[in-house]
Amino acid sequence: MKPPADRLYGRARGHALRPRQRKLLDAALPRLAFPPAAAADPGSAFAPRPRALWLEVGFGGGEHALAQAEAHPDSGLIAAEVFENGICSLLSHLIPAPADPATVALPGNLRLWAADARGLIRALPDACLDRMFLLFPDPWPKARHARRRFVHPAALAGIARVLRPGGEWRIASDDPTYQDWVRATLGAQDWFAVETVAARPPSWPPTRYEAKALAAGRTPLYWRLTRR
Ligand SMILES: C[S@@+](CC[C@H](N)C(=O)[O-])C[C@H]1O[C@@H](n2cnc3c(N)ncnc32)[C@H](O)[C@@H]1O
Repeated sequence: MKPPADRLYGRARGHALRPRQRKLLDAALPRLAFPPAAAADPGSAFAPRPRALWLEVGFGGGEHALAQAEAHPDSGLIAAEVFENGICSLLSHLIPAPADPATVALPGNLRLWAADARGLIRALPDACLDRMFLLFPDPWPKARHARRRFVHPAALAGIARVLRPGGEWRIASDDPTYQDWVRATLGAQDWFAVETVAARPPSWPPTRYEAKALAAGRTPLYWRLTRR
C-alpha cells in the first residue's frame, strides 16, 4: 500500500467571509497562532508553559477544542484546522461581537495551527504529546480514496513517534467504512493498546459532526488508544 498522499483534498474555503469573520482572521488568528518556529519546543508557544501538551486534528467548528481548553487550563492545546470557515467559527465563539479581536484577552493554553496537521506532526519532537484528538475525520469512503484517510497504516509510525509512552489518542467516527478501516488498521499495529468505547465518555466534549451523525441516525464509535 502506498503511503498517504501529502496534500489536502478537503475544502480549505467555503462561503465568502463576512467582515467580522475577516477581522477575526486578520486580528485574532495571528495572536493565537502556533508559530512554526516553536515546533522544536512546543511548550514554549504557551503562556504559562503547560503541564501537558495536546493536539486536536481537524477541529471543525471548534466546539471540542474550546471546551477542552476551558476545562483544562494546565494543558496546552494546539488545535489544527485547514477549513477557513471552521477557524472563523472557533474564533467567533471565543470572541463574540462586539469584543475587539485585536485587544480582547485570549486563553494562554490554546494555540491554533491553521494548516495541515501532518506538517506540524512531522516537525514536533519525539514523545512531546500527552494526548491527541481525531474526531470525525473526513471518511473518504471510496476505496480508491483510502490514501487520503488520516488513520492510515503508513501514518501510524509518525503519530506514535510524537505521543509519549502512556499518552492517549482519541478517535471517533460515524462512518461505517471508516469504522471498519480504523478497526483493521489498529488491529495490525503494535504501537498502541486499543480500547473501543461504546458511548462517548463525558470527558470527550461533543462536536458538531457527532450531533449531525446522531441526528441522521448513524452510530458513532469511539476509540481510546494508549501509546505503549
Ligand atoms: C468531518 S470534519 C469534523 C470536524 C470536527 N472534528 C467535528 O467532529 O465536528 C473534519 C475536519 O478535519 C479537517 N481536516 C482534514 N484533514 C486535515 C489535516 N490534515 N489537518 C487539519 N485539519 C484537517 C477538515 O477541514 C474538516 O474540517
